[in-house]
Amino acid sequence: MAGIGSSGRDGFTSKFGIIAAAAGSAVGLGNIWRFPYVAGDNGGGAFLLFYLLFIVVIGVPVMLSEFTIGRRAQANPFGAFMKLKRGKPFVLVGIMGIVAAFFILAFYSTVAGWTLEYVYLSVSDAFNGKSGGEISEMFNGFYTSTWGPLSWQLIFMILTAFIVFAGVQKGIEKYTKILMPMLLVIILVLCVSSVSLGENVDPETGKVIGSSWDGLKFLFYPDFSKINAEAILAALGQAFFSLSIGMGVLITYGSYIGKDNNLTSTAVQVSFADTLVAVLAGVAIFPAVYHFGMSPEAGPGLVFKVLPNIFQAMPGGYIFAILFFLLLTIAALTSSISVLEVVVASMVEELKMKRVPATVIAASAITVFGVLCTMAFGELSSFKIFGKNLFDLFEFTASNIFLPLGGLLIVIYLGWFMGKKEVLAEISNEGTIKARLFGVILFIVRFIAPVAIAFVFLNGLGVFGFEATGG
Ligand code: PHE
Repeated sequence: MAGIGSSGRDGFTSKFGIIAAAAGSAVGLGNIWRFPYVAGDNGGGAFLLFYLLFIVVIGVPVMLSEFTIGRRAQANPFGAFMKLKRGKPFVLVGIMGIVAAFFILAFYSTVAGWTLEYVYLSVSDAFNGKSGGEISEMFNGFYTSTWGPLSWQLIFMILTAFIVFAGVQKGIEKYTKILMPMLLVIILVLCVSSVSLGENVDPETGKVIGSSWDGLKFLFYPDFSKINAEAILAALGQAFFSLSIGMGVLITYGSYIGKDNNLTSTAVQVSFADTLVAVLAGVAIFPAVYHFGMSPEAGPGLVFKVLPNIFQAMPGGYIFAILFFLLLTIAALTSSISVLEVVVASMVEELKMKRVPATVIAASAITVFGVLCTMAFGELSSFKIFGKNLFDLFEFTASNIFLPLGGLLIVIYLGWFMGKKEVLAEISNEGTIKARLFGVILFIVRFIAPVAIAFVFLNGLGVFGFEATGG
């Protein structure tokens, strides 16, 4: 049963399986739901530029560090730092990771619930003949209600727990391998449809409502006047969230990676795939946003309000809508399982629990937080802390605070505490592969990444703080 990696532990069985699982964790709602609306809220092009910069100078090094720590220690994030040399103070990463897992999965399952509703709506052809305004209203009516969103959320959490039960090889690896490539193809089709919408002219007045070219311009033309410390922090938070780094997901997955895998190239490939999907999602969304005369600042509802319009306008839209929302749900699942896996692996290895009860307990406890997030748009919408409802609060705190802080500790540990020999041994697979870029990697991990994270982090919080970002 065990994979190629390790001493009797469950593990991935092939290189493609590793990439599929890690990319499955990285590629999810973060790319398709979150990236477009956070980019839309923070000015588009200039945000994208900072985001890309952070992926390269911070994201890839943190990801590689997580893989290295996890595979070296053969343990969950908590246990890993307990085991490794001079690691004890860094168990904080494991603890923060558990808290982050609760926060993330709470709002993640809310949105994943929305995607399930949209699978249902697509199948029942509910968008047919609806205007842009009506489609927006459909979403507004749905997500502020109670029982519909809660039921879908519950179904999503059960699905997540179900895959995690099944274990790494027969659960996670098996599903991600087939489904991730399919999603990529659908997004490419959507990109072409969205860009080719072109100009939208009101047939009665002859006035131009909008053009898909303006959407491309919004995404790719960096308008630096829209950038401020808060937007840069949001770009950092998005990079962490999207790559699934900073909370130990990839320490855990790293512990399932075989000793013969080249961790550096895996980190680069996974980060590349993740970034590609995010940018493509932007290309699928923004041209349509502009074509239909909508606002890129529509917030968390952006993709749900925009995409049904594209499906309506394209040939075969009925089928594509179903496929798209189905695959989006699946992309969400391959991410949510990785978040739950952190909690479950920690409970199994540290508390010596069995996998099944650990999964049930963790998933149930997280669902309680999830219910609060879903209700934050309905019954609990007037309950605010620091000007944010619970959903926004969890999202902001996890992505912009916990993940960057965790990432900071992770690179500091790898760069300054783990020991150069130890790091080199793991990255070079005990000297069997050449680690040609090792000097550069170590330099980035020691100096560039920690300084960059600390700077963006303090700058973003110090200048704008909680209150100013409220809403
Ligand atoms: N990276 C996932 C996404 O983009 C979300 C995620 C965040 C998963 C943190 C694991 C850890 O959807």
